[in-house]
Amino acid sequence: MQLTTQVDHFNGLIILPFLENENAIQSRSEFPRAQVSSELFSGVKDSQFLIERTEENQVFLFIGLGKDPDYKSIKNAFRRLTAKQEKLFKEHVLLVLSEDFGEQAMEAAVSGLLLGTYRLGHFKSLEKTQKDWEKVKLGVSSSIPKAEEIVRRAEKIAAAQMETFKLVDLPPNTVTPQYLAEWAQSTGKSLGMEVKVFGRKKAEKEKLHAFLAVGQGSQKEPQFIVMEYRPKQALKHVGLVGKGVTFDTGGLNIKTQGMVHMKCDMGGAATVLGAMQLIADLGLQVQVTAIVPCVENAIDKQAYLPSDVIQSHSGKTIEVIDTDAEGRLILADALSYLVKNYRPEHIVDFATLTGSAVGTFGYECAALFSQNEELIQKLRKSGDAVGERIWPLPMWDLYKSEMDSEIADIKNYHGKPYAGAITAAKFLEYFTDGHASWAHVDIAGTAFGDSEFAKTKHGTAFGVHLLLKFMENL
Ligand code: BES
Ligand code: ZN
Ligand code: ZN
Repeated sequence: MQLTTQVDHFNGLIILPFLENENAIQSRSEFPRAQVSSELFSGVKDSQFLIERTEENQVFLFIGLGKDPDYKSIKNAFRRLTAKQEKLFKEHVLLVLSEDFGEQAMEAAVSGLLLGTYRLGHFKSLEKTQKDWEKVKLGVSSSIPKAEEIVRRAEKIAAAQMETFKLVDLPPNTVTPQYLAEWAQSTGKSLGMEVKVFGRKKAEKEKLHAFLAVGQGSQKEPQFIVMEYRPKQALKHVGLVGKGVTFDTGGLNIKTQGMVHMKCDMGGAATVLGAMQLIADLGLQVQVTAIVPCVENAIDKQAYLPSDVIQSHSGKTIEVIDTDAEGRLILADALSYLVKNYRPEHIVDFATLTGSAVGTFGYECAALFSQNEELIQKLRKSGDAVGERIWPLPMWDLYKSEMDSEIADIKNYHGKPYAGAITAAKFLEYFTDGHASWAHVDIAGTAFGDSEFAKTKHGTAFGVHLLLKFMENL
């Protein structure tokens, strides 16, 4: 879809969103010939009214947003239009926003319309059935002075989110560790970021033993991605880490449930990569270093064994109780590599880490872990602003002793059917070298899920917009 804020002709689809109000339509004077009585339409949430004026070649689409819609519901209302009513979108579309709609609402509306053009049929051979959104020109009319800037920003947000959807939705025989490494390299090149990638050999040299142990049972070479965004006037430095398990079979502790969904296990990597794209694309003045360890957790004669004791980058030894608790092993090396080599002021990791986080919060909220109250508040606020909810769970040291090992420094699983997300977070904390401002976000329930937009589970880009907000309000 092409965007323009130049509104010179009005032939085509005219979208008029309304807040709920008895005189919603009567209050609008720009289109005197498209009036509807308040009995038929008053802006009630999720309501719609269509008027076709064939002689003028205009279709008016009124959409109701309810009384006080939040960011996410505005975004979804618009996403729904392009996702489910694509036939209405011919060559020209005009979005007309009244003064009720401020900058945030405008951003939500435009990015929602763009997100709705995303389709899951990446491998469908009948190309002809796919709509060519490039032919649709979207104009935006608004009295907001910064309209042009907001439209461009919304476009970049949607582009990064759709890229994140795609990384998660593409199958694991496409999105391999190498695919993610190449994605990082080409995105880094086009947006001016430095990217380093360590394969098996270089990772061995760098002593990323825990990371390599997980990848041992796979044909696909593990790739440890380091991506650096260094703008000239940055005052702050943030480190990001994303779990990049391109498929999680469970390893020798093979999964008996839900394995078919485990292409989503690189959801943390996708969030971090998508956020890097967005941050660089918008030219934020914050230095960001992202570490994205990518492996496939598979099985063959080389695969690591339950009860193996492995080394790690930190020098601490780990007893592997369960090969399905692999995410924390690759994150342990990523965190300790980041802390040792880059010393960022704040660190946030995103990972589809535990079924326990899904059991606790379901699919609408991610689990947040940190000992830094200020960081907790900042992250929560950033997420709330854009409808990406996160909620803290405790990090008391009482839980750490659950992970004590008899044979090694720590074990990767306490072997009990409770407190799974918390004990996983305590395991990660052990590898952060007491960093004063680190947070872990367990997105197992939120990265990939069902929604009104598809028949199967799909990527959500959870965390990308949250991270943008977080960096903008540091
Ligand atoms: N990738 C899974 C966690 C997961 C579950 C992600 C559901 C997305 C949806 C993780 O590697 C895993 O297998 N966790 C185990 C850990 C256990 C063996 C200690 C779990 O949560 O059951
Ligand atoms: Zn696992
Ligand atoms: Zn996993």
